Amino acid sequence: MRKGGAVGAIEIDPASLAPREAYHLLTALVVPRPIAWVSTLSRSGIRNIAPHSYFNAISSNPLIVHYTSTGVKDSLVNARDTGEFVVNIVSRDLVQEMNFTATNFPPEEDEFAWAHLQDAPSKTVAPPRVAAAPAAFECRVVQIVDLGNGSMVFGEVSSIVIKEEVMREGRVDPELLAPIGRLGGSTYTDAARALFDVKRLRWDDVKKEPT
Ligand SMILES: Cc1cc2nc3c(=O)[nH]c(=O)nc-3n(C[C@H](O)[C@H](O)[C@H](O)COP(=O)(O)O)c2cc1C
Repeated sequence: MRKGGAVGAIEIDPASLAPREAYHLLTALVVPRPIAWVSTLSRSGIRNIAPHSYFNAISSNPLIVHYTSTGVKDSLVNARDTGEFVVNIVSRDLVQEMNFTATNFPPEEDEFAWAHLQDAPSKTVAPPRVAAAPAAFECRVVQIVDLGNGSMVFGEVSSIVIKEEVMREGRVDPELLAPIGRLGGSTYTDAARALFDVKRLRWDDVKKEPT
């Protein structure tokens, strides 16, 4: 790490960082991250669930989402073995249960049972949903890409479940969904608590402005 370049800035060569430091910097700066609460089944049918904040939308036609496993974890092994997973959306009231399921349970443990989570059958895939989650994407694995120490699991969404109680006037209402995001360490944001709108501009509006 050295001071230099832009005034008051610290420049860091990633190669000089210990893996733990690199992880802390990355996850403190790429924020806030949405959380995929990923439910899967093992080859022998054991229910598994774990949060993944390396999660995002990739394509809307068809609908494709992804989560990344750092190293080889049960959520990765199960998705690879069965080709299916469910992304449950985590609302503010589910944060403790979500955090509990980040425990390093051995693969033979039923994590829904440990977390006292009620499951609900999915319509198009075998892994169950979290009954209390406000929304869920049922997914079939389309590709797994290994990059660095991450394995990116891409899934095409075969069904979306949304609780009516989070809808207002035909749209998902962020305040009713009450999603949480992850920042560095153990810090989260209650994402719907500080909403503001920014109007998107079009070229027709911008070109009239004097330079
Ligand atoms: C909010 C949160 C986000 C997390 N995001 C990830 C992630 O993106 N990738 C990952 O490998 N682990 C992540 N973890 C850690 C895993 O949830 C944890 O290692 C878990 O035990 C993995 O479970 P599994 O072996 O059943 O898949 C996260 C933990 C928390 C609390």
